[in-house]
Parts: sequence; structure tokens; C-alpha cells
Amino acid sequence: MSQQTVNGDAFENLLREERRFPPSPDFAAAANVHEDIYAAAEDRTAFWADQARTRLTWSKDFEETLDWSDAPFAKWFVGGKVNAAYNALDRHVENGLGDRVAIHFEGEPGDTETITYADLTERVKRAANAFESLGVQEGDRVAVYLPMIPEAVVTMLACARIGAVHSVVFGGFSADALRSRIDDAEAKLVVTADGTYRRGKPSSLKPAVDDALAEPGHTVEHVVVVRRNGQDIAWTEGRDLHWTELLDAASPEHTAVGHDSEHPLFILYTSGTTGKPKGILHTTGGYLTQTAYTHSVVFDLKPESDVYWCTADIGWVTGHSYITYAPLINGATQVMYEGTPDSPHQGRWWEIVEKYKVSILYTAPTAIRTMMKWGSDIPAKYDLSSIRLLGSVGEPINPEAWMWYREVIGGSGGKAEPAPIVDTWWQTETGAIMIAPLPGVTATKPGSAQVPIPGIAVDVVDESGNSVPNGHGGFLVIREPWPAMLRTIWGDPERYKDTYWSRFDGMYFAGDGAKKDDDGDIWLLGRVDDVMNVSGHRLSTTEIESALVSHEWVAEAAVVGAADPTTGQAVVAFVILRGEAEIPDGEDASAALRAHVGKEIGPIAKPKHVLVVPELPKTRSGKIMRRLLKDVAEGRDPGDATTLADPSVMQQIAADLRK
Ligand code: WT7
Repeated sequence: MSQQTVNGDAFENLLREERRFPPSPDFAAAANVHEDIYAAAEDRTAFWADQARTRLTWSKDFEETLDWSDAPFAKWFVGGKVNAAYNALDRHVENGLGDRVAIHFEGEPGDTETITYADLTERVKRAANAFESLGVQEGDRVAVYLPMIPEAVVTMLACARIGAVHSVVFGGFSADALRSRIDDAEAKLVVTADGTYRRGKPSSLKPAVDDALAEPGHTVEHVVVVRRNGQDIAWTEGRDLHWTELLDAASPEHTAVGHDSEHPLFILYTSGTTGKPKGILHTTGGYLTQTAYTHSVVFDLKPESDVYWCTADIGWVTGHSYITYAPLINGATQVMYEGTPDSPHQGRWWEIVEKYKVSILYTAPTAIRTMMKWGSDIPAKYDLSSIRLLGSVGEPINPEAWMWYREVIGGSGGKAEPAPIVDTWWQTETGAIMIAPLPGVTATKPGSAQVPIPGIAVDVVDESGNSVPNGHGGFLVIREPWPAMLRTIWGDPERYKDTYWSRFDGMYFAGDGAKKDDDGDIWLLGRVDDVMNVSGHRLSTTEIESALVSHEWVAEAAVVGAADPTTGQAVVAFVILRGEAEIPDGEDASAALRAHVGKEIGPIAKPKHVLVVPELPKTRSGKIMRRLLKDVAEGRDPGDATTLADPSVMQQIAADLRK
């Protein structure tokens, strides 16, 4: 892994941030938790055992809270049995909450659906029976390639109910990316849709599944297709099945049995520092405990009165933890929206907040910055007075965006006290929120995630793994195992150990740089490895480089994440073309290579710029100096280039760039 040093210079200003926003007395008085929770969590094992028993209904109680004897392979709530779907659904119905709305679905074209807990339970039972009728058994993998429609939640919970392991692939990934994930997980079933709606137009998904499965050698037996936009789609008789027909034919009765606490719940692929995405494996008891707990204490959820809306896509971990699992386990009412924020107009989100009286909104800094750019007059047209708590996730939130979020969204409607903001740091690997202020307890600081949640041991260490004093920066680590931690990388336990546990002895290395301020509060400084963060989506420089060099014109490629005012980082690629590359007249090589990356990985990975250069800056040992490329991509003078084999390369690139 190439380790860059933590460069905190750009953040010095950030750390001079002096604003503090203590909780209002009213919010604090009514909050789900108080300052004393930190003391209560000092006995970590007892604390988590208590959370597991109070937040979940176990069909068999566990005997041991944590087995860490085979570290870094953890077992939580050993011997316990629990069913995720029963906890998210049946038990609420049994408790008389069947009529409570689970999901207010808002389609992009404006169609809506109100789904109660009773409705959702019945759909999940039917889907569970349907999947079982297709031969899906406990432990089998199911690939899910669906848009943001209720069927995505139904599919995930139906898998969990029968102990099948879902592997959701974001709809923005290409057929090739889908195929490699299907192959790695050896999925037996794929659940997809004809397509969805994007900015007022139908967009398709099923053709990518057909492409992915075109070549033989895969493990998929059936493809279940939800009809969403009615587009014409190809149909493979015998393999393809209609969702509606299957569910209609299935029985609405299904008894959930408890699965082992460590039974695999899902695999979710994420980009690492090498070309091959990692299948992050999460298991049942610990994951459900920590997601449910954090959803309650960090968002101060009051299930009987709140309307919660997380704007993430189900294809990312945020959608897994804070749409499918935690809110339903906690019996919340939530909004699910299919489309983009600007369709049919830039006020769509705020219209949704007004319509459903959303009280808790959880979104990403990139969205906040986009809305800022569109202008404060747009949210001002809507009644946002229902909002009482705001969350942020995915990347560091800059203080300007934080203040805008607080004042324009959280303070809308002339509230005396704007809604508190919780900036939540976590990762696909951590499964659930790890660092966040507690609303009603923590005095918040614009731009900082601040404090580990009770029960979690986070630290910032130097190169040698020593804890840094306040006022200093280093690498973010987690010192103790936590319930929602990843258990391994699917099929590659060595890579799991190597990636997360080998950099610092006995500590989990998150891949992020961080600083402690004078109060000991944590400020995240971004990735210190070859992982980029574009609009809160994780992309690997190496993976995009591999995609570029797979094109016949390309001899070499180097990719960097350059600072971008809206998306946080933007992908910028530098490529050297092969001498013999035959580029047709009138063809724009950069545009063709951007499209190629889109085809290989997916539209989300397309570089913002592809720059054709004669040489790449390399050290005498042949290593590409990405730092220098990042400097030029961000418009800085690349400074010291004396370690380069050919120091003139950078001048040439910079001159080319100016053209
Ligand atoms: C990486 C994880 C967790 C769900 C979404 C992303 C960055 C995430 C924050 C935050 C600063 C953040 C980190 C982390 N990140 N949240 N609040 N402040 N940085 O999940 O795709 O696994 O990415 O996102 O760099 O390592 P992911």
C-alpha cells in the first residue's frame, strides 16, 4: 500500500474553528440519551451485551458477548440466535404496530406508495417463500441490482429472513462490474428491475444483467425482474421470472427462524487500494445491534413521532444500515425517494420534506454543497419547520456547508434554535456509525465528527502507532473490536488481515488521516491511501488505472483525486498513449477513454478529465509520483521534482495543462 504522509496544512484553518453550538435545553431534556451514557459504556462488554438484549429480540440468548481469541476474527454474541427480518418486521406487527407506516415511497415521476409494517411484513414473507421456491437456501448468495424502490428493501429482508446472503450492487455500476461481483460471491440468484427513472426519463438495469450473464461460467440460476418503468426488455425463458407473478403465487405465511449471531448477513463490495474490489462481509447479531443503537442515540429517533429520511442509495452501506436495517429494527417511519434531487425541479427534496413532514434528514456533504450552489431561495420556498435533526455522512463536511445546512435547512421557518447537526464518520467496513456527536449532549463544532460514540475506542496515532497528543495529526485507528465490524473479506481472510490489521499492531487501520484538536475532538482529514472519495462514493485510483490501461490505445495511466468544490474530490486521469495507437480521425481520445471507464466500472467512475501526456513523473525506481500530479490537477505548482528520473516531465505536463 502506498502511504502518503498526512498533510494537514490545508486543515490548519479548519482547526482554528472557534464556533461551538451547545444543545438547546429543550432538546437536551427530551433527548434519548444523556452525558451519563459515556460512563455507562466504560465497561464495553457489559454495555454491548445490554444493547444487544434491549435493542433486539433474540430467539436464543447468547452465552458470550465477545470472542476475540482468534483476533482479528471476531465473534459477537456467541451462541445467540436472531432473525433480522423478524426484528425489523414481525415483532412490530405482533406488538400492535402493524398499521404504522414503515415506508413512504416517493417515485421520481411522482407516483407514491404508503407501506405499513403489516404490508411490508407480508411482502417480505411472500418474497422469502418465492426465493425458497427457487432453491435459495441458508448461506446462498443473492445479487441485488435494483433501483431505489421498496422491492429493494423487501429483497434484502427476504434474504435475511431465510439466511441467504445479499450482495447489493449499486445500479450505477456497469455490467462488467456486476459480473465480477456475481462471480466473486458465486451468486445463485439475481434480483433486478427493468429499470428506473432518472431526470424524467426511463433508464435501464436489466440489459446490464443480460450482458453480465451473457458469457457462460457463472453460478446464476434465475433472474427475478421487477417491472418498474415498463421498458421493453429481453427475456431469457426459464432463467428470467417476473417478481409480481412469483410473489402473487407465493404464500403470505412464513415463519422466521433465528440464525446464528455470526451468520453472514450480507456482502458489500467496496474499493480498496488495489484493482480488485473487496467483498466486505457483515454478520447478523453485532451488525444489527450497533446499527439499531446508533440510529437511536445519534439521530435521537422517536419512532412514534419522527419521520426519518436518509437520502442514500441502497447500493451503498449507508442504505443498508440506515434505510433497510436500523430504521425498521427501531420501528421508524421513513421516506424512500427514487430519483435525483433536481427532478423535475431543484426544490424536489424540500417539497418531499414538506409533504411528509420529515423530522430527521440524513444526507451527504456533496448534496449539501450542491443545494448551496443552487441557492438558498429554493429551500426557502418550502415549509421545513418539521426538521429537528440533521445528519451528514460520507466525507468531511466543510464548515461553510455545515453552517449553511444549520441555518438554511435546520433553522428554516424562523426556529429559535436550529436543528442540531450530527456529522457521522464510519465506513463500509465499520458497518455502523463510529464517531459522531450525540445530539442533546455534545456541543457541536462545524466540520468535526468529534467523539467516538459510547462503546467505541477510536484513536489517532503516529507512524509508529503511538497515540498523538491533542493538537496533533496522524492516522485514525480503532483500538478495540466493535459489534458491527466487518468479519472478513469474502473469500480472502489474508487480505482482511493485511489490509486492516497489519499497519499498526493490534489496531484496525481505517485508511483515514485525522487530527485531534485541543479538546481532543477528532477532525477527519480524508484518505491517506489510494482511495478517492467522489460525492461520498469510494473509488480506487488503481481500479480506474487498470480500466484505462485495458484500453488498446493506452500504454500507461495515473489517476488522482483532485479537490473539487462540489464533489469533494474529482477523478483526474493522466494517460500516455501507445505509439501505435490508431485513433480514428475526428475521435476525441479523452472522451473515448472516459466512456471506456464508464463501461468497465460504471458512470460513477468516469474521470472528470482525461489528460493525454507524453510522460508521467516517476522516481528513479520507477514509481509514479501521484503527489505531483495531484498538485498540477489542483492548479498548484508541483514544487520539488528533484527526485524524478526526468525532472522536466512536470514542466511539460503543467505547460500542456495550461493549453
Ligand atoms: C470513507 C468510507 C459511511 C458511509 C459512507 C461512506 C469517508 C465517511 C465521513 C465523515 C469524514 C468520512 C472516510 C471513510 N467518510 N464519513 N463523516 N467525515 N470522512 O462509506 O464508501 O465505505 O467510505 O468515507 O474517508 O474512510 P465508504
